[in-house]
Amino acid sequence: MKELNGKQIENLIDKAIEIKKNQQKWWNSLDHKTLAMIFQKTSTRTRVSFEVGMTQLGGHAIFMDWRTTQFTMSDIKDESKCLSRFVDIIMARLVKHSDLQKMADASGVPVINGLCEKYHPCQSLGDLMTIKEHKGKLNGLKVVYLGIGNNVSNTLSLACTRTGMNFTLCAPEMDPPCIDEELLKEVKGSGLYEEEKDPKKAVQGADVVYTDTWVNMEVFTDPKFEKEKERRMKTFVPYQLNRKLVEGTDALVMHDMPIHKGYEIDEWSIYSPNSIIFDQGENRLHIQKAIMLWLLGKIKL
Ligand code: CP
Repeated sequence: MKELNGKQIENLIDKAIEIKKNQQKWWNSLDHKTLAMIFQKTSTRTRVSFEVGMTQLGGHAIFMDWRTTQFTMSDIKDESKCLSRFVDIIMARLVKHSDLQKMADASGVPVINGLCEKYHPCQSLGDLMTIKEHKGKLNGLKVVYLGIGNNVSNTLSLACTRTGMNFTLCAPEMDPPCIDEELLKEVKGSGLYEEEKDPKKAVQGADVVYTDTWVNMEVFTDPKFEKEKERRMKTFVPYQLNRKLVEGTDALVMHDMPIHKGYEIDEWSIYSPNSIIFDQGENRLHIQKAIMLWLLGKIKL
C-alpha cells in the first residue's frame, strides 16, 4: 500500500470493478504465467482467491505450505531467489514483514504481501473496491474501525486517508507487533484520521463500520496465548460491532473474515441488511486479478 498513491489505489480498484463486470475479456491475459503462493499461516480467502484468480486469467498457481518446503532449513534469500527463477510472480503470507522484505529483495519477480504482522494490503484494496461498488465513491466517506488496532486497521487507515476518506480508529489498544510509527505519522498528519475511544461517538455519521478479530490467527488456538486471549476478550467486549450500535443507521457493516461470531461481531450484524461482508469476501478474487495484471504489466495505473 505504501508504494501506491491515492490515484493509483483508486485506479486499481476501478480496474478490478471493470474486470468483475467483464470477466471473459481477461481469460487468456496471463496465459502460461505461474504464481507461487507460499503460506506460513492458514488461509481460506487469500489462498482461494489468488488460485482461482490466476486460473481464470489463464495461468497456473502453485500452493506451497512453508512447513513442507526447504525454506524451513535454508536462507530465505537463497530459496526466494531460486523460486523466482521458476515463476512469474509470488504471493507470500509470512509471520514477519522483515522476512517478506528479504524475499522481495532477493526475488527477480514481483512479491505480493498476502498478510504479515503489520499489513494486509490486498485485503484493504478489496475493501475499498467493495465500498466503491456500494457507495459509488470513496472521497469524503467515513470509515470507522472497531476493535484492536492491527495489520488490517493499519493498511485500511493508509488506503482510506490516501484516497480522501475519513478514518476513525475506535480501539483501546494496538496489537504490539503491528505498530508502524512511519505509517501512523502519515495517517495522523493527513487531517483525515482520528481516534475515538467511545464506540457510540465513533459511529456517528459513519458510512462504514468495520471490525476484525481481536486475536491473530496464528495464536488463536495456542495454549501459550490463552491468558492474553482471555484478557483481550474482556477488554474488547465494549468494542464489539453489534446490533445496538448499528441498527437504524445507514452504515455498511464490514469484516474481513474469518469471523469469530459473538466476539468482535454479533450474529445479527453479520447478516443485517447493511452487511456487505460476503461481497467483501468475493471481491478478494476480483482485486487479486487486478493486482496480478498490474504487476505483470497487463494494465497500467
Ligand atoms: N481475510 C483473509 O485474509 O482471509 P483468509 O485468512 O482466509 O485468507
